[in-house]
Amino acid sequence: MAMNEHKINIHTLRTMKMRGEKITALTAYDFFTAKVMDEVGVELILVGDSVGMAVLGYENTLPVTMEEMIHHTKAVARVKPQALLVADLPFMSYSTVRSALDNAGRLIQAGAEAVKLEGGEAIVEQVRALVAAGIPVLGHIGLLPQSILETGGYKIQGRTPQSAEKVLRDAKVLEQAGVFAMVIEGTATAVAAQVTKSVTVPTIGIGAGAHCDGQILVSNDMLGLFTWFTPKHVKRYANLAEEMRKAFAAYKREVESGEFPSAEQSFR
Ligand code: KIV
Repeated sequence: MAMNEHKINIHTLRTMKMRGEKITALTAYDFFTAKVMDEVGVELILVGDSVGMAVLGYENTLPVTMEEMIHHTKAVARVKPQALLVADLPFMSYSTVRSALDNAGRLIQAGAEAVKLEGGEAIVEQVRALVAAGIPVLGHIGLLPQSILETGGYKIQGRTPQSAEKVLRDAKVLEQAGVFAMVIEGTATAVAAQVTKSVTVPTIGIGAGAHCDGQILVSNDMLGLFTWFTPKHVKRYANLAEEMRKAFAAYKREVESGEFPSAEQSFR
């Protein structure tokens, strides 16, 4: 099989950090969106468990199942992206080392090239076992959406000395356990900057300020597809929900008036 010289792998990301080049990452849940973002050259595509809210209509990420993650990972993997393809291990799918290995294996067999799991010290055994099994791991520290029941909601981390210390400790522990990079979510800018300086692996921020080695956004948020609530960390690059609303309304008007279909869309 011919090697693709432009294919991004975990080592490419490490090299980018060493060169001071920023890493661009986005979430994707379907073939077509992933194909378009791959064409513009993002370095990392994440099939996030945010699929729960972005696509499946859940209130949070907790109901997302392995079957749902596998289904969406397979769709995105069919793109055969240049970008590194990472898939999330959903809530409770990595509570033991055994379940982490089994479920990560299923995501890799679905086409993911790495898995992401949330937490630091609490999941270090799982991370070590995955790396030892040859499965690249993307860490995820700071605000952990799968822990909202325990933390009482989506709380920005690193605002107290204790919280900042925990974020830094989690980052160090994950680095030692062998993650190839880590997402820092919802964390005070100065703390995320300190983590970025103190670890050799790339940090990818979401709501963690400008000093991380890269940035990730939920694609539905940045595209303006999910408009009912916009978190502070999101910048909208498009307003697709409004475009869709206009298109659906125009279609309805034309069907009702008989303007659609015209001769152009009809067969002799
Ligand atoms: O599921 C997701 O989209 C994520 C990102 C917020 C990093 O984990």
